[in-house]
Amino acid sequence: MTDVTYPARKPARPFFSSGPCAKPPGYAPEKLATESLGRSHRAKIGKSRLQYSIDLMREVLQLPETHRIGIVPGSDTGAFEMAMWTMLGARGVTTLAWESFGEGWVTDAAKQLKLDPTVIRADYGQVPDLSQVDFTTDVLFTWNGTTSGARVPNADWIPADREGLTFADATSAVFAYDIDWSKIDVATFSWQKVLGGEGGHGVLILGPRAVERLETYTPAWPLPKVFRLVSKGKLAEGVFKGETINTPSMLAVEDAIFALEWAKGLGGLAGLQARSNANAAALDKIVAERSWLGHLAEDEATRSKTSVCLTVEGADADFIKQFAGLLEKEGAAYDVAGYRDAPAGLRIWCGATVDTADIEALGPWLDWAYATLKSA
Ligand SMILES: Cc1ncc(COP(=O)(O)O)c(C=O)c1O
Repeated sequence: MTDVTYPARKPARPFFSSGPCAKPPGYAPEKLATESLGRSHRAKIGKSRLQYSIDLMREVLQLPETHRIGIVPGSDTGAFEMAMWTMLGARGVTTLAWESFGEGWVTDAAKQLKLDPTVIRADYGQVPDLSQVDFTTDVLFTWNGTTSGARVPNADWIPADREGLTFADATSAVFAYDIDWSKIDVATFSWQKVLGGEGGHGVLILGPRAVERLETYTPAWPLPKVFRLVSKGKLAEGVFKGETINTPSMLAVEDAIFALEWAKGLGGLAGLQARSNANAAALDKIVAERSWLGHLAEDEATRSKTSVCLTVEGADADFIKQFAGLLEKEGAAYDVAGYRDAPAGLRIWCGATVDTADIEALGPWLDWAYATLKSA
């Protein structure tokens, strides 16, 4: 293809980053409530806003009362490592990895906690044979691999009568897929993904079996204060009522409340999923119409609807860098290069905060960047 046609129309909001992701449509910082700022987060106003954000998350996620939900430090990484450090070591561990974030949890389990985990891997774009997993062990997995665009299809592979606990890094998955919470003992995420919120804080979800583990097992290693979820043998329940371990950013909390109220206005989970599904379908159409574009995750059942990763015929890392650079310079698309450790390609966020019309407008720009570089 050598036809370098400059497209007529740009995406209105060219924000396609896979994290932090696009803000919700209509977002403006001046629309945030600010009464809780400049006050103690333990004052009535601060605590009520933290509790309100927790209540909204529960409602929009359709999280059952069996599961607690709390705000913790350190974004998704902080939440997931808090869970690993406080609960692992009681029994064997299996870590599943099919991209770089899952690999990060393997490194934590093997090299930092020295747990000698069973590691089950798959290449970028694929998901391993989930029937191999031994559920007498604790099982760690990334629901949606943000850097490969591959995800678990559902939670059917997790038995109801498992002995170990399941730990899901669900940061690119919550608010986008149906999650059978009865199969999840621990889940974590950050507001910066599907909600288009801010980083900094993580969200920790604990099922009853995780709470039981916390209250009956003490790890062999020391725990820093920011990881401590238990006091005198009992779960620190305050964490799940807005009494955060240390000082949160109330601005980030207000920002998350904005996104959650937007989500609620769309009809909650179903509304968010409908937007993400429409975005992924619009991108699929773009891919199907171009012989030089493909999906890194070939199997549709395990292909992401949030962090969609694309292959570009003949592209290496340098080509992708130039490709993404051209689009950024034109203001047509920001942050669409694949993750640095992933095979060279594009990654386009299709989560709910992105507008489908903007995905549709992207097609001609991808053609333009490809043709421009090919003809150079
Ligand atoms: C699957 C996954 N896990 C963990 C992280 C780390 O998230 P955070 O920077 O919010 O800690 C990311 C960020 O992109 C991610 O995609």
